[in-house]
Formats: sequence, structure tokens, C-alpha cells
Amino acid sequence: MPAMNSPPSSGKRARLLSGMRPTGKLHLGNYHGALRNWVALQDTHEGFFFVADWHALTTDYADTSLLQKNQHEMVVDFLAAGLDPERSTIFVQSHVPGHAELHVLLSMITPLSWLERVPTYKDQQEQLKEKDLATYGFLGYPLLQTADILIYRPDFIPVGEDQVAHVEITREIARRFNHIFGRDEKFGAKVKAAQKKMDGAQREGYVTCRQGYQERGEQKLLTEGRALVAAAFRLDDSERELLLANLEGEHHRLLPAPDALLTPTPKVLGLDGRKMSKSYGNTIGLTEEPASITRKVRGMTTDPARVRRTDPGNPEKCPVWDLHKLYSSDETRAWVAEGCTSAGIGCLECKQPVIDRICADSATMRDRAAPYLANPGRVNEILAAGAVKANIAAEETMQAVRGAMNLARGVSP
Ligand code: TRP
Ligand code: SF4
Repeated sequence: MPAMNSPPSSGKRARLLSGMRPTGKLHLGNYHGALRNWVALQDTHEGFFFVADWHALTTDYADTSLLQKNQHEMVVDFLAAGLDPERSTIFVQSHVPGHAELHVLLSMITPLSWLERVPTYKDQQEQLKEKDLATYGFLGYPLLQTADILIYRPDFIPVGEDQVAHVEITREIARRFNHIFGRDEKFGAKVKAAQKKMDGAQREGYVTCRQGYQERGEQKLLTEGRALVAAAFRLDDSERELLLANLEGEHHRLLPAPDALLTPTPKVLGLDGRKMSKSYGNTIGLTEEPASITRKVRGMTTDPARVRRTDPGNPEKCPVWDLHKLYSSDETRAWVAEGCTSAGIGCLECKQPVIDRICADSATMRDRAAPYLANPGRVNEILAAGAVKANIAAEETMQAVRGAMNLARGVSP
């Protein structure tokens, strides 16, 4: 049974962490595939969102000249899309050295074979044949990602399907680390002390649930036990965490294993009908001007069977239909389905409502981006403030990690 993350105790918002490689200005594929979801989640979660600039180096080490520019443009687009620096922590990976420290410590316990069997390793080497990816940095990509994640002890990692293997190796490494370094001699005594703070009935219930769950694996008992811990109002956060770990039979969770929060990734096809991607040059930008949005969508590939206006088409074979799925009302979609299959409407007519919606969205986003374009220093201020918050959270974990590995500073032998 996968160790589900315990719900955050005492009404704290669950913590999210996710990152994106700095590719410069974002396009609708980036937005619908990830960013849009981050923005939606920031109301209910404590979000940490970062630019993975070191990750960009794993494949693009030979020319770093655009790194800073790409990073800046991407952060402007984060803000344009509605990521709110007041509610979320927005930062750059390389501004938090703890990621590198944890990466090096985790590298000591990570078997090479675990890295070699991550599917993206061989796939990407195949796909990017023009680059020499036989580097340590490239092999270590998932481990760096593991460090990015575990250092914040988040509850969830909102990512698309393509990142699931990376979250999986993160979970394996967390378990291995906890197994090797997570032992706490005083664990038993601490559990006893925490249990004393529950009232009699709660304590009895907790002990029964724990035993039953561990003997028979009954999910219901785990849920019940967690509810009892949540309801015991005299416990503080660390005592709750301890009792939740004990409930599942784990001795100590120095680095809790987070779950992927799978983003439903809608298909966003590019102008030529292939996946929308910067490297294909078939994108529509997040903050593009109406004239170029209009020109691009009007020129977009449609169902190849609709050569003439009088030929009926099939929306399922048309990339414009995928845009209608994202942008149009049921009513408009019904109009498309009917008009396309009966040759009742032309493709340009069909595209207009999509053009209107994309232009409306991009107008909102350009408004949000305007103050940052006028004053680029503002972006750096946001990133500096984000780095302060991220470093505080990261350092908290690193102190526990250093302690567990006998690397704490200022300790006499
Ligand atoms: N590998 C991710 C991608 O290519 C980016 C990334 C780096 C990331 N570190 C992360 C995503 C940590 C989530 C959590 O999209
Ligand atoms: Fe595509 Fe619309 Fe043309 Fe049909 S009418 S082929 S859905 S653009």
C-alpha cells in the first residue's frame, strides 16, 4: 500500500511544490499543462513554485547565454497567469543552495541502477542525440529533482503524467534515507508522552486502530486513527506527526514521501497539429497580441479531409477542436460539432470563438504582466523575497538532515 500522506494537522494548508525549467516565454501548452493548475491550487494550498535553472543545465550546459533572460521571461509569465507572490513562494532553484547540499547527501545513498532505469534517461538521450548527455549531471537529473522536492517536505507535487516516474524515485529515495538515517532512539518514549495527551477513549481508539491496521492493513482503521489524532486538541504539530508515523508503523519520517498530484493534462496541439512545443515553432504565447493570435489560429491545420468548404469534417481529427474543448461553452461546441460534420460552417467561422477567448485571456494576462515589463526590477524583488522564504523552509529540513547524519555544526564529539 502506498504510504499516503497524512492530512496536514491543525488546519494548516497542505504544502505543494513544483518547478519548471526556464524556457523563456510560456505558451498555451505550458499553461494548460501545469501553470493553470498551480494558479488554481494556490488558494487552498501553501505553494512553492520555482524555476529549475540547474535542471536546464543538465541538457543545455554548452550555451548558458540565454539562461537569465529565459528565467526572467518565464517568471513574468508566471505572474501574468496569476501566480500571486503574496500567497505563493516563487523562487529560483539556484538561489537556494540547500537543494545542492541535499543532492550531494542523497547521492551517497542512491544506487546508480535506480537512476539508470528512470525511463526519461534513455529516452532523452535518444531524442537529443545532437547533445552529449553522457554526463553525471544528466544521469543525476532525477536525484536533483528529488532534493528539490524533499527539502520542502511537501504533501503534494502537482505535475503532469511525464513527471510521475520522477516523483516515484523521490518516494523510493525518501524511504531509503529514512530507513538509514531516520532512527530515533527516543521514539518510543516520545510516542508514549504524546499518547498521554489524548483523552482516555481517544488513546484506546488510537491503540486499537494502530494494531488493527498494522496486523490486517485495514484502510478504514488507518483513516479512523488519523481522525483521532486530528481531534486530539492538546497535541502540538510535532506530536501529531509522530503519532501519525507511529500509526503506520514508521519510526520516523525525517523526509516524508510526497504524492504526485496528477494534473489532468489536456491535449494542446500546436498550429501544425503536432504537440505544442517551442522546439517545433508551433506555439501560441500566453501574452501574445490579438493580431498575431488571430493570424496564427486562422492559419492553423484543420481536419485534412476538409479540403473544400463543402466537404464535411470530423472535429475529432482537428486540432482546433481541442482548443474548443478548452475554451468553448457546451453550446458553442454543439454548434461546431453540427456545423463541421454537415459542412454547415466554414473553418474560419469555427475558429472565431476560440480566437476571441484566447485574445480575452491574453489581454488579462498582458495587463497583469505590464507593471513587470515596465519595471523589471520588481521581478527580481519578488524572486529575492521568494528565496528568503524558500531558504528558511529548506534550512529547517537541512538542520534535521545534518543532525541525523552527524554533520551538525558546532557539535563537540
Ligand atoms: N523535471 C521537471 C520538468 O521537466 C522540472 C522540475 C525540476 C520539477 N524539479 C522539480 C518539477 C521538482 C516538480 C518538482 O518539468
Ligand atoms: Fe476543425 Fe472547425 Fe474546420 Fe471542423 S469546422 S475541421 S472542427 S476548424
